Amino acid sequence: MKVHILDQILNNRKRILVTGGAGFIGGALIRKLLSDSSAKIFNLDKFGYASNQDSINKKINLLGQSALERYKVLKLNLANFDQVNQAIKIAKPDLIFHLAAESHVDRSIDSPYEFISSNILGTFNLLESVRTFWNELPLKRKEIFRFHHISTDEVYGTLGNEGKFSELSTYRPNSPYSATKASSDHLVNAWHQTYGIPTVITNCSNNFGPWQYPEKLIPLAIFNALHEKKIRIYGDGQNVRDWLYVEDHVDGLLIAANKGKVGKSYCIGGFGETTNKDVVLKICKLLNKLSPNKTDYETQIEYVEDRPGHDKRYAIDSDLIQKELGWIPNNSFEESLEITVKWYIENQDWCEKLFLKSGYFGERVGLKNNQNYKN
Ligand code: NAD
Ligand code: DAU
Repeated sequence: MKVHILDQILNNRKRILVTGGAGFIGGALIRKLLSDSSAKIFNLDKFGYASNQDSINKKINLLGQSALERYKVLKLNLANFDQVNQAIKIAKPDLIFHLAAESHVDRSIDSPYEFISSNILGTFNLLESVRTFWNELPLKRKEIFRFHHISTDEVYGTLGNEGKFSELSTYRPNSPYSATKASSDHLVNAWHQTYGIPTVITNCSNNFGPWQYPEKLIPLAIFNALHEKKIRIYGDGQNVRDWLYVEDHVDGLLIAANKGKVGKSYCIGGFGETTNKDVVLKICKLLNKLSPNKTDYETQIEYVEDRPGHDKRYAIDSDLIQKELGWIPNNSFEESLEITVKWYIENQDWCEKLFLKSGYFGERVGLKNNQNYKN
C-alpha cells in the first residue's frame, strides 16, 4: 500500500477544498495533494481566462484510478453566494485553501471591477458559507477545521532600497489588485476575531514555475522571446521582486495551514531579490544556451512606459515561518529559473492553446486605456 507522506502533516484533515485550483499555484498544490496525500480534493474554480486543468489531468493519468476518485471539480463563481453555499455543503471540508482571485496587477488597472467581485465579494461569500457550516460541525471536526487564506506581499505596498516586509508591516496597497487582496485579508481576520473561524493567512512574494499563464513577467518574457517579439521591461527595469519557485510556496502553504497558529499571518519569501532587468537578462542567457537563435535574445529587449503606480521593491523577511514552522525554500532562483525556461521551450503549444482560448496574445495591458466600469 502506498504511504502518503503528507497524511501526517494533514493530521486527519481528509476533505480539502482548494479554491482557484485551476490556476497556477492552486494547480501545483492540488498535484502535490493528489500524489502525496490520501485526502479527497475539491477544486472550486470559475475556470476563467488563466485557468486550465492540463497539469492536474497529467498528474491523475500518472497516478491512476485512485487519484481520479479522490478529485472533484466544482465549477462556479465565488461571486454567487448560493452556489458557494451549495459547494461547501458538497465538499464538507476539514481544510480550505482559498487561492481563487483575479491575480494580475496590469489587468486590475484596466478592469478593477472583476477584482472587487472575485477577491472581495468572493472571499466574503466564502467566509459566510463557512461560518454556517463550521458552526454546525461536531466539536472534534470544528477543532481541526482550518481556513487558509492565500495572500500576497503586495498588501504592504512598496519598499525603498532598504528593509523587508514582515508580519508586522503596515498595510499600504497601491494597485487595485493589492487593495482587493488587502481587503480580503481584513475580512478573513475579522471573521476569525468576530466569529471564531480558525483562519491562517500567508502573504507570499512573486511565484514562478511551469504551468503559469504567460501574462506575468517570467513566462511572458520567455514566450515573447521565443516568438521573436519584443521582451518588454517596464520603466528602467530597476524594480525589485523577491522570486520564489512555486513548489516552495506550496510546501509553505501545507505547513502554515496545518501547523500555523490560528488567527496568525505568515510571510513567505524566496531569498530571490532580483531587479526586473536582471531577471530578463538571465532568461535571455538561458535561452541563448537552451534554444539558440541567430541573434542574442537580448536584442529583443525593449524598455517601455512604466506601469502606473508601479511598486519599486518587494522583499520578505521569512524569519517567523522559518523559526516557528521550519519552512525553508529548497530551490535556488537560478536552478528553478532554468527548469522553468526549459519547460516553456518544450511546452510552447500549451501557451498557444491558452492564448487562443483566452484571446490574449501577450500584448501590453494595464496602461489605463480601458475606462469601462464592469468591463
Ligand atoms: P491564477 O490567476 O493563476 O489563478 C487564479 C484562479 O482563481 C483561476 O483559475 C481563476 O479562474 C480562479 N478564480 C478567480 N476568480 C474566481 C471566482 N470569482 N470564483 C472562482 N474562481 C475564481 O493565480 P495564481 O498565481 O495561481 O494565484 C493564486 C493566489 O495566490 C491568488 O489569491 C494570488 O493573489 C495569490 N498569490 C499569487 C502570487 C503569484 O506570484 N502568482 C504570489 C502571492 C500570492
Ligand atoms: O508579489 C506577489 C505578486 O506577484 C502576486 O500577488 C501577483 O498575483 C503576481 O502577479 C505578482 O505581481 P507583480 O506585479 O509583481 O508580477 P508581474 O509578473 O506582473 O511583474 C513583475 C515585475 O515585472 C513588476 O515589477 C512589473 C514588471 N514587468 C511585468 C511585465 C508583465 C515588466 O517589466 N514587464 C512585463 O511585461
